[in-house]
Amino acid sequence: MEKQAVVFGASGGIGGAIVTQLAADPSMARIYAGSRRPSASADAKLVPFAFDLTDEASIAAAAAKVEGAVNLVFVATGLLHRPGGPSPEKALRALDGAAAAELFAINTIGPALIAKYFAPLLPRDRRGVFAALSARVGSIADNRLGGWYSYRASKAALNMLLVNLAIELRRTHPQAIVAALHPGTVDTELSAPFQRGVVPEKLFDPDRSAGYLLDILNKLTAGDSGGLFAWDGARIPY
Ligand SMILES: NC(=O)c1ccc[n+]([C@@H]2O[C@H](COP(=O)([O-])OP(=O)(O)OC[C@H]3O[C@@H](n4cnc5c(N)ncnc54)[C@H](OP(=O)(O)O)[C@@H]3O)[C@@H](O)[C@H]2O)c1
Repeated sequence: MEKQAVVFGASGGIGGAIVTQLAADPSMARIYAGSRRPSASADAKLVPFAFDLTDEASIAAAAAKVEGAVNLVFVATGLLHRPGGPSPEKALRALDGAAAAELFAINTIGPALIAKYFAPLLPRDRRGVFAALSARVGSIADNRLGGWYSYRASKAALNMLLVNLAIELRRTHPQAIVAALHPGTVDTELSAPFQRGVVPEKLFDPDRSAGYLLDILNKLTAGDSGGLFAWDGARIPY
């Protein structure tokens, strides 16, 4: 049966690589590729669409345009730093309310709104996957270094939302799988200022990370729903 996927954050480093790899998959008939400023694609399989995580109506409008069930929803958006905006806090005195609120809007509330409109589009009688890029640093159990207050907290809250979604979907979509993913340290704009000290073999190019992540998603079963998984398939405790 032909499948279709929706990717949010197609303009991003990891999101772009996910779109490219899905487009190369012969079982994928259509890939809806969302970004803030979409451009036309020569690939007939790709359907670019516009959305902004801070604009709920744009997410609702995107869902209304999808025809038929969606086998994979992949949320590849996220924010760590922005010139003149959020920047990871080394200590609590660096915390800024507006910057923290922006990280929560992008990393937590935006993906929750995507789930609100797109989780109902997963098939009810077949396997379907809702995946979102989280981060290992969002694991409370794994936090030994501290710092990065707002980013860590926004990802921990995202993880909680995904667990809730997994529980809710169990009733209506028993074969659905909800997964939070840690992509590794990936060479993108998001990680660029923080790559010093990362050994080269641990700094993945986006294609490599996207390959690992799609591989993991293909192997997960409904019993795994609600978990946080690293690029190597290992389950990270919340
Ligand atoms: N790179 C890493 O090492 C690493 C490690 C752990 C976790 N992650 C997570 O992986 C995810 C993707 O990161 P990346 O490295 O691929 O970063 P990236 O290249 O900076 O991509 C971020 C994506 O988020 C989108 N985005 C930001 N604000 C948005 C908004 N208001 N509305 C719609 N889209 C918005 C960006 O769109 P625009 O192009 O329009 O700005 C872009 O597509 C993030 O959630 C990040 O936390 C990354």
